[in-house]
Amino acid sequence: MAVPFDFTPLFAPNLPAPAVKWNGFPRYNFVGGHNDAEHVPVEGLMAAANAVLKREGRTLATYGLASGPLGYRPLREFLSAKLKRHAGIVCAPDDILITSGSLQALDLVNGILLARGDTVLIEQETYGGALTRLARLGVNVIGVPLDREGLRMDALSSALDDLKRRGIRAKYIYTIPTVQNPTGAIMGEQRRAELLRLAHAHGVPIFEDECYSDLIWDGRRPPALYAMANGGGVIHIGSFSKSVSPALRVGYIVGGWDILSRMLALKTDAGSGALEQMVLAEFCSAEFDAHVPKLTSGLRAKLETLMEALAEQFGTAAEFEDPKGGIYLWVKLPEAVDTLKLAQAALAAGIAINPGPEWTADKAYGKSRLRICFANPSKATIRQGVAELAKICSREFGVPTRIANVARADGGQM
Ligand SMILES: Cc1ncc(COP(=O)(O)O)c(C=O)c1O
Repeated sequence: MAVPFDFTPLFAPNLPAPAVKWNGFPRYNFVGGHNDAEHVPVEGLMAAANAVLKREGRTLATYGLASGPLGYRPLREFLSAKLKRHAGIVCAPDDILITSGSLQALDLVNGILLARGDTVLIEQETYGGALTRLARLGVNVIGVPLDREGLRMDALSSALDDLKRRGIRAKYIYTIPTVQNPTGAIMGEQRRAELLRLAHAHGVPIFEDECYSDLIWDGRRPPALYAMANGGGVIHIGSFSKSVSPALRVGYIVGGWDILSRMLALKTDAGSGALEQMVLAEFCSAEFDAHVPKLTSGLRAKLETLMEALAEQFGTAAEFEDPKGGIYLWVKLPEAVDTLKLAQAALAAGIAINPGPEWTADKAYGKSRLRICFANPSKATIRQGVAELAKICSREFGVPTRIANVARADGGQM
């Protein structure tokens, strides 16, 4: 039998809180960025794996295959062509670094730029994974309000002016311009030009995070900020998580050698998983453009189910914009609702939701908001989950007062 040993006094200082053990997915899983299981292109991935392994399997003998530390070259070639075709980005395969998901890309960008006490500008509603990273790094975060088209330029301009007055140069402006997480906003081309102008005038780089830009219902993706700036002062990251599969853990960074060389020196994993890169390159080169519309039409149908279920179960208590793409709906409930508490009560009943304060720079602003990911649950599960959530919300906060158009017995006075 193992002799008990206490590691606690040996732990390094400033470790994050311990992880909680995984006990399986909740019955109604509306959290995280999971994808639609029906649209994982399993057959295509199997054929791709077979073909690429038969042809090049022996290159697995060396770290980095035969491609070097930037990642599998055919995948970087695919990306270079795709980014040109879809986002107007002109970059060579050697301007792309393959990472273990775009989360590693976030870590590498932060790693080369940020130190404790630095300041960054971010979108007021933003990706929770970015917020937790910045908090852990001890960075000052300034949230800039959004509207239906994303970052508000008047607010950004005054935030930049304010920093200038205080003698502070922000390290970057972090934005998710195309299908923003969580709001779903898409920044138009004119606003992108204004953003670049402001950033340039203040000498602040832009950190462009684009993992949802393939998932636009009408397929009309504006040019990337990286493209519009010809790469000057912009770092662009992306991912295959939302377009193919998050479990594969493949993302990428686009930038010049001046920054990629600094990131490579920090990327101490001796290369991201090679098999995933090989299979993706083989699959995507032939099938990516045909695969994506099938995925997005399935997602759009699930979103419609979700919006209908919310309207039916919450009535006017749930406010939201119909997003132009993506996998999330950002919902505003009445002020009485505290979504941190709602999330706890819902989880006890097997319903997982993302409470707004974890997705906003300003926690008070997020208090009555929540993010619902609709990609993974089936339409029936979406309907049932929303009905259950309405019951719990009504029990805990007295709203909605009518569920599925039936008034509550106590008239909602509790
Ligand atoms: C805006 C944004 N960036 C990055 C990521 C990280 O994704 P991944 O590491 O799977 O590429 C996510 C995941 O949901 C995200 O929403």
